[in-house]
Amino acid sequence: MKDNQRKGRIEVKGLKHTFVMGQVDVPVLHGIDFVVQPGGFTALCGSSGSGKSTLLNLIGGLTKPTEGSIELDGQIVSVMSENELCVFRRDNIGFIFQSYNLMPYLTALENVELALIFGEMPEEKRREQAIEMLQKVGLEDRMHHKPSELSGGQQQRVSVARALVTNPKVVLADEPTGNLDSQTGDDILQLLRSLNEKQQSTFLIVTHDAKIAEACDHTIFLEDGVIVKEWRNHHAH
Ligand SMILES: Nc1ncnc2c1ncn2[C@@H]1O[C@H](COP(=O)(O)OP(=O)(O)OP(=O)(O)O)[C@@H](O)[C@H]1O
Ligand SMILES: [Mg+2]
Repeated sequence: MKDNQRKGRIEVKGLKHTFVMGQVDVPVLHGIDFVVQPGGFTALCGSSGSGKSTLLNLIGGLTKPTEGSIELDGQIVSVMSENELCVFRRDNIGFIFQSYNLMPYLTALENVELALIFGEMPEEKRREQAIEMLQKVGLEDRMHHKPSELSGGQQQRVSVARALVTNPKVVLADEPTGNLDSQTGDDILQLLRSLNEKQQSTFLIVTHDAKIAEACDHTIFLEDGVIVKEWRNHHAH
């Protein structure tokens, strides 16, 4: 893989976050600094409540940080307005959640197409790309099924297809295998890894799963809102 084809460098500097709940301040992140290289496949680990989801939501522009900066692919997300963020997220970021978050009344194909609906793409092209993406995740024979007519692993494949169909620079996944048995989880991990190689997007994956952390080329370990360990695995690429 050539470096100049890779996209989606992430740089987090002096990031702090405190939730304000009425009179009570809940400090959660206390000064986070790290870099994920373009095209990287990075695991974010740490015990429950350590601030992993909070950090991922800040990087994805779903929450505004209290202090510090977040740069994605050369753009400073932490200073964008709501409108700018909306467009930036649509064009640059794919989200994958533990509980899939699919639209229950739409088929697999419609769920994936939905990710393209706010862009410029004509309807026929949207359908074509959604079908192609569902083929890539191995669901060509389940495209017209609704989420309730799919297994957990299949639903997560739909959500992976939805996240990647826009060819985002950065993919943010929060416990993508958390609801799956270990074999199905391994399959999803393989799928994410192969899409990372093929599409050369940067992946940041929150996980409790040691196997995912091992398969990543970079692991960040969070404890009580600070990074306590960070290492790069040598098997990478
Ligand atoms: N919207 C919010 N308002 C107030 N406090 C919050 C909010 N979201 C998270 N917190 C607090 O921030 C801390 C970190 O939560 P977060 O969800 O980031 O943890 P996590 O590492 O993802 O945990 P888990 O592994 O259980 O998903 C927790 O103590 C939580 O109570
Ligand atoms: Mg979480």
